[in-house]
Amino acid sequence: MNQEAITNLEKLGLQKIQRHIFLCADQTKPKCCSHEEGLESWNYLKRRLKELGLDQPSADPPCFVFRTKANCLRVCEGGPILLIYPEGVWYQKVTPIAIERIIQEHLLNNQIVTDYLLLRHDLPHSELNITSQNDDS
Ligand code: FES
Repeated sequence: MNQEAITNLEKLGLQKIQRHIFLCADQTKPKCCSHEEGLESWNYLKRRLKELGLDQPSADPPCFVFRTKANCLRVCEGGPILLIYPEGVWYQKVTPIAIERIIQEHLLNNQIVTDYLLLRHDLPHSELNITSQNDDS
């Protein structure tokens, strides 16, 4: 394995994340919202996760959130679109006001914010095996 990648992975604390948020923002072709709206929501999300200490591993609250700016989540209407895993909850129209509610209610209190809910779809759990091409046995 690439040592730099492992170092970065450890710095990011990826082995400890509890939720992963994807937000459609800074799109190459803005469709679900304007470019400015997407960036405003993205900057708000980043700032609030940092202010609340949710952007790093923590036992109190036990809520470490990893965020990813997605170029397009392929819904392309009613954005900005935001997706949270592992729950598989899709939100629409996530302005900064909506993001604040999602942080307070969903991330910190495990409540879906139905006012902005687009879809709830848990991904099926799968059992994975690790195989190695270098394994001669
Ligand atoms: S442009 Fe936002 S979902 Fe496609």
